[in-house]
Amino acid sequence: MSDKILDAFMDKKTEGVKVDAEKRLKVGIIGTGWIAEAHASRYKECPDVDIVAAADLVPGKAAAFCEANGLDGVRLYPSHKELLDSEELDAVSVCTYNKTHAECTIYALEKGVNVLVEKPMCVTLDEAADMRRAEKKSGKILSIGFQPRFDQNMKMVKKVVESGTLGEVYYVQTGGGRRRGIPTPFGTSFIEEKTAGLGALADIGCYSLDMVLNAIGYPKPLTVTGYVSDFFGKNPKYMDCTEYAAKFGVDDFAAGFIRLEGGIVLDFRISWAMHLDTPGDSLILGKDAGLRIPSTGCWNGSIGGPLVIYHDMAGECVETVLPEAKNDGDNFYKKIRSFLDAIKNGLPTPVPSSQIIYNQAILDGIARSAKLGREIEIVIPEI
Ligand SMILES: NC(=O)c1ccc[n+]([C@@H]2O[C@H](COP(=O)([O-])OP(=O)(O)OC[C@H]3O[C@@H](n4cnc5c(N)ncnc54)[C@H](O)[C@@H]3O)[C@@H](O)[C@H]2O)c1
Repeated sequence: MSDKILDAFMDKKTEGVKVDAEKRLKVGIIGTGWIAEAHASRYKECPDVDIVAAADLVPGKAAAFCEANGLDGVRLYPSHKELLDSEELDAVSVCTYNKTHAECTIYALEKGVNVLVEKPMCVTLDEAADMRRAEKKSGKILSIGFQPRFDQNMKMVKKVVESGTLGEVYYVQTGGGRRRGIPTPFGTSFIEEKTAGLGALADIGCYSLDMVLNAIGYPKPLTVTGYVSDFFGKNPKYMDCTEYAAKFGVDDFAAGFIRLEGGIVLDFRISWAMHLDTPGDSLILGKDAGLRIPSTGCWNGSIGGPLVIYHDMAGECVETVLPEAKNDGDNFYKKIRSFLDAIKNGLPTPVPSSQIIYNQAILDGIARSAKLGREIEIVIPEI
């Protein structure tokens, strides 16, 4: 038997469409910090992309970035405004810290430029609504940078729900996180209020929410009771240095109880640091079966182990372990490529703001409810 036949079951389809290198796209990078390197390297893999401009608020940073990443002839700017005022672009990657996602994205859309903005979408629900309005007015694409969407195991979570195996879903638990994992190796932009706005809640919470909400079809959030704490970040004992503890201005742990449209409840907890290995696996309970999704410390990649379906068979309680899926390529490349393909070929936006505004509404709702110390209603404006 030939290898061809033996391999026939493997999913070798690539998600992008054939790249027409004649039809080129001019791309700019706004914010040249850590994640911008991942964007630049994937754009460089695309035969139809020219990175023509880069901007950063820190003097000299964009130039050093271009040099380090082998980007020649790139025009450099001191902020997103100068870049977008001066360039005719097809697309930008907004790779700034959370607090400037909204202003950079809106300005780009107003200039008629398609935007791939890093996750989380932004910090507040009001910002997310303004981004959606700008997108709608511009007629351009706004995609949010959730690369786990392209992971085969994450897709399997959605596939299980959509197959109807679980029956009607009524309860979802998600979150997870780290025992020690406050992200400071690249400075303080994740932990200062003025740059990050939100901590673990948005940084990794947005991923775990997206995994389950995308699987169950992004029902609208209605109410939320939220909790946030910062006992580790503010304690020099747990931080790399006293300076970091003094600067820590966001949450390092968050929890929420959210009521979703359709009578579904969502129980969520996320951690950058705690005295526990994991706050639990993700669960999706349906009337016919339940799904366990093993927790992971990071959440920006795949799931933490094989998916298990709990169901009944011939009157017995049984479990089915799904084999872990093999990934067929680089999820970060797919996030970039799918955005470019959507622009070039009029395809649907890969990770649309119409969904992620609900994700943002939950993050914002948890933060606001925690501040108020009570349950709040989530009101999402019609756009
Ligand atoms: N998808 C992923 O796996 C992933 C991983 C890490 C970070 N991120 C996200 O990427 C974003 C950036 O993270 P990072 O680690 O690269 O941060 P960073 O602090 O290393 O870089 C951000 C850069 O943006 C610049 N900046 C801010 N506002 C600007 C503006 N208006 N114009 C031009 N430059 C501006 C800052 O000066 C800084 O250099 C965050 O929102 C983070 O959540 C995503």
